[in-house]
Amino acid sequence: MIELRDVRKTFQDLSVLKGVSLSIGDGEIYGIIGQSGAGKSTLLRCINGLEPFDGGEITVDGTALSGLDHASMRQLQRGMGMIFQGFHLLERLDVYHNIALPMRFWGISTKSEEARKKITDLVELVGLSDKLHAKPRELSGGQKQRVAIARALVLDPKFLLCDEATSALDPEITKGILSLLQEINREMGITVIVVTHQMEVVKQICERVAFLSDGTVLQEGRPEELFVKPERPEIRAFLREGSERLPETGVNIQLFFNGDNNYEPVVAQIARTLGIDVCICWAKLEDFRTTVYGSLVLNVEEKDRERVCQFLEERKVLWEVLS
Ligand SMILES: Nc1ncnc2c1ncn2[C@@H]1O[C@H](COP(=O)(O)OP(=O)(O)OP(=O)(O)O)[C@@H](O)[C@H]1O
Ligand SMILES: [Mg+2]
Repeated sequence: MIELRDVRKTFQDLSVLKGVSLSIGDGEIYGIIGQSGAGKSTLLRCINGLEPFDGGEITVDGTALSGLDHASMRQLQRGMGMIFQGFHLLERLDVYHNIALPMRFWGISTKSEEARKKITDLVELVGLSDKLHAKPRELSGGQKQRVAIARALVLDPKFLLCDEATSALDPEITKGILSLLQEINREMGITVIVVTHQMEVVKQICERVAFLSDGTVLQEGRPEELFVKPERPEIRAFLREGSERLPETGVNIQLFFNGDNNYEPVVAQIARTLGIDVCICWAKLEDFRTTVYGSLVLNVEEKDRERVCQFLEERKVLWEVLS
C-alpha cells in the first residue's frame, strides 16, 4: 500500500507538487491523470524515490521514504518496476538480455537455471517467445514495451509504475498493452500505478483515479465518477479535450449520461415539449469497463435558457451551463 500525505516538491522556485494526498491500495490499478506539466511524472518519481520531496510524507508498505538511508531506499526501489513511454531498452542487447539487466544490476547470476526460467517465463507472459534473441530495432513499439514490462517484472516487484507507457502507441496496440497490465495485476497480484494524459487508459483499466492539476489533486474516485460528475471546470475542460469549438452566441449546456439515463430521449423532448430548437455542438460516448457513459453539449438561445434548465432539472439529468 502506498500513502501520500501532503507531499510538496519544488524545483528551484517552481512549486510542482503543492500538497498531494492520496492512498493506493494493495492490488489496485490506480490512475494518475492530468494535463502536461501537472506534475504526474514528478509524483511518480517521488514515489519510487528517484526524486526527493520537500514536505509531507510518502509511505510505501509502512515504510516512510523521508529520511530513509541509501541501502533501504535501494531495497525499496527493487520492489518497484518502472516502465516509460520511451521503453529505455539497450540497443546492443537482445530481448533476453534486456530483460535480464536488473538482475545483473543487482549482482544476481543470469546464467542459473532459475534465472533462465524466470526470463523465459516472462517472455512467454508478454507474448514474445519467438523474439527471445531479437534486438530492439527489430521490434515494433508495442513489442518493445512488452520487453520493458518483462524487464520491470524480473525482480518480482510488488508495484509496477507506468509513466505514459502507451502514449507512443496506436489505439489497437495500446489495448493489448493495457490487457497485459490487467493480467499482471490479476494473476501476479501486483499493484499497478498508471500515469497518463489519456482518458482512454484510465477508462479501460483503472479502478480508481486521481486528477492532478498544477500540483494538486482536484478529484479522486472511480473513473466513471470523474467522467459523470466532474467536480471542477478544469476536469470538464480536460474531458472535452478542447477539441470542440463551441458557439460563442447563445448558451452552451453540457449534459451527462451516466448509464441510468442513457436511453432517455432528452434532446427530442426539449424540442417537442418546449418547442425550442436546440443545436448539438459536441458529443462523446465513453466505454468504461462496465458501462457506456455519454456527454453532449447543447446550444440554445439565451431567452430559452431558463426553460431548458428547468426542464433538465425536472428530468433529473446531470447538466451544467458552460461559461
Ligand atoms: N528536474 C526538473 N527541474 C526543473 N523543473 C522540472 C524538473 N522536472 C520537472 N520539472 C517541471 O515540473 C513541472 C511538472 O513536470 P512533470 O514532468 O512532473 O509533468 P507531467 O505531468 O508528467 O507532464 P507530461 O504529461 O508532459 O509528462 C513542469 O513544469 C516541469 O517543467
Ligand atoms: Mg510526465
